[in-house]
Amino acid sequence: MSNSGWNSKDYKKFDEQRAKEYAAIANEVFAPIYPVIARQIMERCGVDSGLCIDVGCGPANLSLALAQLTSLTFCAMDFSPHILDFAQANIDRSGLAARVITVVGDVHRMPLPDAVASLIISRGSMRFWRNRPAAFREMWRVLEPGGKGYVGGGLGSSLLAEEINQEMIRRGADWQNKPKPHARKNDTAEWQKIMAKAGFSRYEIVCDDSGSWVYFEKEGSQGGMGN
Ligand SMILES: C[S@@+](CC[C@H](N)C(=O)[O-])C[C@H]1O[C@@H](n2cnc3c(N)ncnc32)[C@H](O)[C@@H]1O
Repeated sequence: MSNSGWNSKDYKKFDEQRAKEYAAIANEVFAPIYPVIARQIMERCGVDSGLCIDVGCGPANLSLALAQLTSLTFCAMDFSPHILDFAQANIDRSGLAARVITVVGDVHRMPLPDAVASLIISRGSMRFWRNRPAAFREMWRVLEPGGKGYVGGGLGSSLLAEEINQEMIRRGADWQNKPKPHARKNDTAEWQKIMAKAGFSRYEIVCDDSGSWVYFEKEGSQGGMGN
């Protein structure tokens, strides 16, 4: 049994070594979840064109899976330049380099103008954010009127989660992402707290087999799901 080395508990910011370890896990173990989550995003958000920002994109697997289903262009953004090296390698291999670019950026202060994005996605990054309400306000800023957001974490389905759980244990990881169906009630309360602090009045929480997500939509000046 080899130890994968990656332990989500002691994460700070991916250095070169941690970026390499996480990229291997994303590419080898998590690979089947991204097309499933991309379909879930499409079903919920239905955004097929414009700019999508993938916040905390890691090796850009979710951007690339969603690019296969849509005509969106992608800004795959992460605050670790080391993980973006692996993102770029995945993008180059995918043949989708004309539609997916990488950007170094922190969710709390994105290097992007107001109202540029028709879609914001983020998987597995939020639990590392130092100020989640501020991050949501920042995502709101870069979202165009009518734009949608889908942010959270999950492994696609309970079946995929169980398979990944087994594989991570087999690899000897100190695995913190075990499926936790009993935690859904807590997740809902946690989302409500974050979104209230962020000043969002309307949003939808999705806590089911797909994971724990929040969906929001920025209506025009008429109001809408957000603030
Ligand atoms: C567990 S990985 C998930 C990567 C990818 N979204 C996926 O689903 O495979 C978390 C990522 O979030 C990034 N991240 C954490 N905090 C961030 C922040 N404040 N701004 C931007 N990226 C951040 C990390 O560098 C890391 O690449």
